[in-house]
Amino acid sequence: MSSTTATPAAEETPVSASESAHDARAVAQARALKSVYVYEAPVRAWHWVNALAITVLSVTGYLIGSPLPSLSGEASEHYLMGYIRFGHFAAGYVLAVALLARIYWALVGNHHARELFWVPVFQKAYWKEVLVLLRWYSFLNRQPGKYVGHNPLARFAMVFVFLTTLVFMVFTGFALYAEGAQRGSWADRLFGWVIPLFGQSQDVHTWHHLGLWVLVTFVIIHVYAAIREDIMGRSSVVSTMISGHRTFKD
Ligand code: HEM
Ligand code: HEM
Repeated sequence: MSSTTATPAAEETPVSASESAHDARAVAQARALKSVYVYEAPVRAWHWVNALAITVLSVTGYLIGSPLPSLSGEASEHYLMGYIRFGHFAAGYVLAVALLARIYWALVGNHHARELFWVPVFQKAYWKEVLVLLRWYSFLNRQPGKYVGHNPLARFAMVFVFLTTLVFMVFTGFALYAEGAQRGSWADRLFGWVIPLFGQSQDVHTWHHLGLWVLVTFVIIHVYAAIREDIMGRSSVVSTMISGHRTFKD
């Protein structure tokens, strides 16, 4: 459960009569500081493992689609493409297992752990908040709202752009992997139906490739927004995904 707590430093700092006006002001500010525990350790660990896996998958995936020029010399002395594909498949496994663990944590963690998986689309108040944020991002509002969990617009993008694409990449990725693992393998038994659904292997390659650019676009906007909100917004953002605590500036 999330709880509102004053920072320990604020509680322990004694205010003596001899303190300068400057110190007294700083203490008063510290007293007003509030932090809320939002992202539990498994959510934070998943975030950074997932970010790393996606970085590796994007670079190696790009190189699978647009291979480097051939190496000169004896072919058996090189295994470059093999290492690139191995890196892709290893990161693919990490991504998929981490996603399963994250789904488990959505079931047992606090309510912020579930924000990645649903959007309150039938609540009027939610869309009002989205509008406020759109106005803020369009420079039409002077300040944004204050959010404890994800901001409403981030939540929309995370569910409908990020999560949907991620699940799509896991299904199409393991379907392609099943071709190499061959008929009867676990990958074939679980994901063998995906390629016929799309038509043939090259169609799945093309859609899987397109997913790369959807994710790259998401990540660029996501990182920009996280850093911008940290500077311009009313609460901590990047440090919240490191410590788990949301602190408020006003
Ligand atoms: C491949 C790179 C990345 C991906 C795919 C990614 C994806 C995500 C996702 C899915 C969430 C929601 C987490 C959840 O609810 O479980 C999230 C949250 C967050 N990410 Fe990232 N992330 C990436 C990189 C980064 C980087 C480099 C930063 C720091 C600059 C960052 C900062 C944050 C922050 C601060 C939040 C919490 C936002 C909030 O409180 O509303 N992310 N990210
Ligand atoms: C963030 C997620 C992922 C990204 C961005 C990504 C990206 C890519 C790209 C761009 C390609 C080249 C497609 C082409 O032009 O032919 C590719 C191929 C492939 N990916 Fe992924 N991928 C992801 C996840 C996965 C996962 C989870 C797996 C499962 C193991 C996987 C398995 C494969 C396989 C088997 C190939 C074909 C390799 C080959 O033909 O040599 N991918 N991926």
